[in-house]
Amino acid sequence: MKNVLITGGAGFIGSNFVRYLLRNEPDLQIINLDALTYAGNLENLSDLPNIERYTFIQGDICDFSFVKQTLEKYQIDTVIHFAAESHVDRSIVGPASFIQTNIVGTFNVLQAAYNTWSKSENKNNFRFHHISTDEVFGSLFSTDPAFTEITPYDPRSPYSASKAASDHLVRAYYHTYGLPITITNCSNNYGPYQFPEKLIPLIILNALQGKHLPVYGDGKQVRDWLYVEDHCEAIHLVLKKGKLGETYNIGGENQPTNIEIVNMICKFLDELKPASSPYASLIEHVPDRPGHDRRYAMNIDKIKNELGWSPKHTLANGLRETVEWYLSNIDWVNLITSQNNYQNWLNKNYQNREEIK
Ligand SMILES: NC(=O)c1ccc[n+]([C@@H]2O[C@H](COP(=O)([O-])OP(=O)(O)OC[C@H]3O[C@@H](n4cnc5c(N)ncnc54)[C@H](O)[C@@H]3O)[C@@H](O)[C@H]2O)c1
Repeated sequence: MKNVLITGGAGFIGSNFVRYLLRNEPDLQIINLDALTYAGNLENLSDLPNIERYTFIQGDICDFSFVKQTLEKYQIDTVIHFAAESHVDRSIVGPASFIQTNIVGTFNVLQAAYNTWSKSENKNNFRFHHISTDEVFGSLFSTDPAFTEITPYDPRSPYSASKAASDHLVRAYYHTYGLPITITNCSNNYGPYQFPEKLIPLIILNALQGKHLPVYGDGKQVRDWLYVEDHCEAIHLVLKKGKLGETYNIGGENQPTNIEIVNMICKFLDELKPASSPYASLIEHVPDRPGHDRRYAMNIDKIKNELGWSPKHTLANGLRETVEWYLSNIDWVNLITSQNNYQNWLNKNYQNREEIK
């Protein structure tokens, strides 16, 4: 790796990864290409180390010639593709942008990478790494075994269907054209700089404002949660040691229900920023998300056994660090929530959901 293009590097995981790579790879140049949609924000990158090795370019991956020119101009040898529309609820309300960015956009980045790679004199040093999700595998019953890398795809939301399509395209470029690719499918991430539409930051911020804590349905949906820094470490390892053409599952090896997550957050807040009554009294069950997947679980034996990676954070210490981060970064929170129609989105998504008694 010399010149790395990161797409979506102003989003939650992408910005954490930019920071991680600048800290852990002393020689490379990072080009961050991001459209700065509502989910991307340069404030997520305000404290970068080694800034002289970092360039930001605002642009849309749906614009093929722009992506192609960027790869050529910066002599990119490694593409790490994070850019996506990433929120399931938004994909239910408006799926079109998910089709554009996640499918057409990924196709553009792949095609641009293929153009650069096929003309390169140093083909062996090129890599396209695609960031994907456990949601492509569908939903598990409580007794089903965890997803492995060969679990058949069964996406059930416009978000997961568009991510599944992008994974298929990435594999097609490997099998058809020989483009050197790797893919990681990861479980739910949490940690610093996550846009507060997702469960964990939404609950933290609502609690701090004394608002209701909306829990979909009975709250017994099961997820696997990974601290974002652990995800960054796993991606880095796959870039260094992963086998071309292969997929690696990444997860936190935990199986809490959503209601357990919400109660854990309330418990940390009761301790770190006590209010007049326990935060859990704000919990409100609201009608479930349509087609809501009941359970995800990741089998991470492959990345453990082949590459020697496992998560460093337990759910309890990762969640505690996350609550502490949001408490000490109120300026970031205020800025993010004052922009991009954040409150309008919350009203649109939650306003018409009545409380379930
Ligand atoms: N958040 C999770 O729990 C999770 C879990 C597994 C996989 N993933 C995957 O990881 C990746 C990053 O997720 P995230 O949570 O950081 O997402 P995010 O929504 O926080 O960030 C996405 C970034 O992509 C940018 N972007 C969106 N459309 C673009 C376009 N057309 N052109 C250029 N940039 C564009 C946005 O501006 C934003 O900076 C996604 O591919 C997502 O599917 C996320």
